[in-house]
Amino acid sequence: MKNYTRRIVVTGGAGFIGSHVVRLLVNKYPDYRIINLDKLTYAGNLANLKDVEDAPNYRFVKMDICDFDAFYALMQEEQVDGIIHLAAESHVDRSIKDPFTFARTNVMGTLSLLQAAKLYWESLPEKYEGKRFYHISTDEVYGALELTHPEGVACDFSAHEVYGDDFFRESTKYNPHSPYSASKASSDHFVRAFHDTYGMPTIVTNCSNNYGPYQFPEKLIPLFINNIRHRRPLPVYGKGENVRDWLYVVDHARAIDLIFHKGRIAETYNIGGFNEWKNIDIIKVVIRTVDRLLGRPEGADMDLITYVTDRAGHDLRYAIDSRKLKSELGWEPTLQFEQGIEETVKWYLDNQKWMDNITSGDYEKYYESMYAGR
Ligand code: NAD
Ligand code: DAU
Repeated sequence: MKNYTRRIVVTGGAGFIGSHVVRLLVNKYPDYRIINLDKLTYAGNLANLKDVEDAPNYRFVKMDICDFDAFYALMQEEQVDGIIHLAAESHVDRSIKDPFTFARTNVMGTLSLLQAAKLYWESLPEKYEGKRFYHISTDEVYGALELTHPEGVACDFSAHEVYGDDFFRESTKYNPHSPYSASKASSDHFVRAFHDTYGMPTIVTNCSNNYGPYQFPEKLIPLFINNIRHRRPLPVYGKGENVRDWLYVVDHARAIDLIFHKGRIAETYNIGGFNEWKNIDIIKVVIRTVDRLLGRPEGADMDLITYVTDRAGHDLRYAIDSRKLKSELGWEPTLQFEQGIEETVKWYLDNQKWMDNITSGDYEKYYESMYAGR
């Protein structure tokens, strides 16, 4: 077995954020073994990792995180010393229709990984020394905030000084509302319980909405880019006034790399974009950008905006205070939103084959059934 300096399993590496994490680690650390463990559900796509699939330090393993025996055997075989856990059911609308799948994967799957890691690491002479279980979670576990500050937009650290109590902090009490966020909250509790009970070296991070290349087109930004391209209606939930805090996915992957290596054991770190937008405002930016890049008159597709029945239990506003991550580890988002959205729209328009492969066939039927009742 080659003498790699670290042997890391990334779960969910064929998904949106996971693929960016795998790419970053494979390229940045040739002396690390990076094992991408993914079940390849509808959201997993190996085409997201074409550029690294032949790298000598990379291995893909098709596996369900709920398969305890298979994961325990993999830990032994690969002598795994680090786990970066992203695999999950991640779409809120699906969780409203099918909560059981979310409990199975997000709660039982996480518990299964924790228990297998515990048994394997505790069997070694050095036990937990040099080991790490890093769990990627979401800001949705904190619940929802009010629209209290002007415009609903806070784009930099100074806003956090002025509107100090108006953001999710690491100390904010959990208050999940959707089956998705309830399942993620439960998995976060299990991870912390494994530290507190068994001494496992764990870390949890809670991040805001990501955007960028390779996001599955059921999520707002890629879905709308694709619909605008085909001049299809853009289903805006409710009045479009909900606020999300958007972070470029590569900046999230950078944060994950930093925290995996330098974060303090048993800590929680919030990761956010300092970049709040009302849905309707971001939708208008996306329309103008797609129109311009496709050579249509800018704003020509505004008439595609279609207000539909609101999402059940729709959280009004998410906004992250990530000053702890900045002050402890020096992380900040690098990409301005205007540049990030421009690059994102351009990527989807340049990679229409990637999009068309996903949106043909079964997905089309799913998408139609999702909106049938609205
Ligand atoms: P995604 O849906 O794009 O990808 C999830 C991946 O997990 C897919 O590759 C899928 O095949 C895999 N997977 C699902 N069930 C599995 C199972 N049982 N066994 C093995 N693999 C399985 O999700 P994403 O948006 O990349 O999110 C990744 C993680 O980050 C999730 O844990 C999510 O809760 C969290 N997160 C996402 C965001 C966001 O904006 N997308 C923000 C904060 C946190
Ligand atoms: O905050 C982090 C979370 O962000 C992650 O944990 C989730 O995995 C991720 O899916 C995302 O959740 P959201 O529900 O915020 O993302 P989504 O892209 O589904 O929706 C963004 C906003 O846009 C939300 O207020 C709902 C609205 N929306 C979404 C869709 C798909 C619409 O108005 N119309 C749509 O068709």
